[in-house]
Amino acid sequence: MYAHDGAGWHIREFETHDGSACMSIFMACLREFPWRGSPRPYVARLIRSLPGSRIWVAEEPSAGIIGFVTLQPASAYVDHLFVDEDWRFCGVGRGLLHVARESAGRPLTLDVDTKNTGARKAYKSLGWHVAASAGEPGTAGHIRLVSP
Ligand SMILES: CC(C)(COP(=O)(O)OP(=O)(O)OC[C@H]1O[C@@H](n2cnc3c(N)ncnc32)[C@H](O)[C@@H]1OP(=O)(O)O)[C@@H](O)C(=O)NCCC(=O)NCCS
Repeated sequence: MYAHDGAGWHIREFETHDGSACMSIFMACLREFPWRGSPRPYVARLIRSLPGSRIWVAEEPSAGIIGFVTLQPASAYVDHLFVDEDWRFCGVGRGLLHVARESAGRPLTLDVDTKNTGARKAYKSLGWHVAASAGEPGTAGHIRLVSP
């Protein structure tokens, strides 16, 4: 589907047995967002979103699952994009978004926390821009972005 031959990882559709690995990455990433407080509502939101989502994982033969993305296909909305900290800056996020964009067939949208400066820089590098309909950055704690 999508492979990075140099780094050895590839992207494939989520399978049920990937659930706990994705949840581990998710929980570890949430610890990087101290402004969010308790992880409980975010875990509940992830679980709630799964039935209607397309989900892809990035997998490396030794490390296992190293990242995942969830997409609401009807709205081309990316609910979740999370990459294991040890595998960042390797193109995994770019690859996952590429696969989601190809599947959606139109520009994607997502909401990024205003305080999530790392992710905001990543989206900027990937050519995403602030949605015309978005309010002033920071008004609701997040910013709506649109992909190329
Ligand atoms: C944001 C995130 C998904 C990016 O994943 P990644 O696999 O590291 O991204 P990539 O390696 O594909 O990088 C894509 C581009 O963004 C840049 N980039 C990625 N993270 C960056 C950062 N923290 N600061 C500056 N630039 C960054 C890369 O250099 C690359 O740009 P380039 O091609 O011009 O060099 C990852 O940092 C992550 O999971 N963060 C924690 C969870 C999170 O914030 N998710 C997003 C919620 S909206």
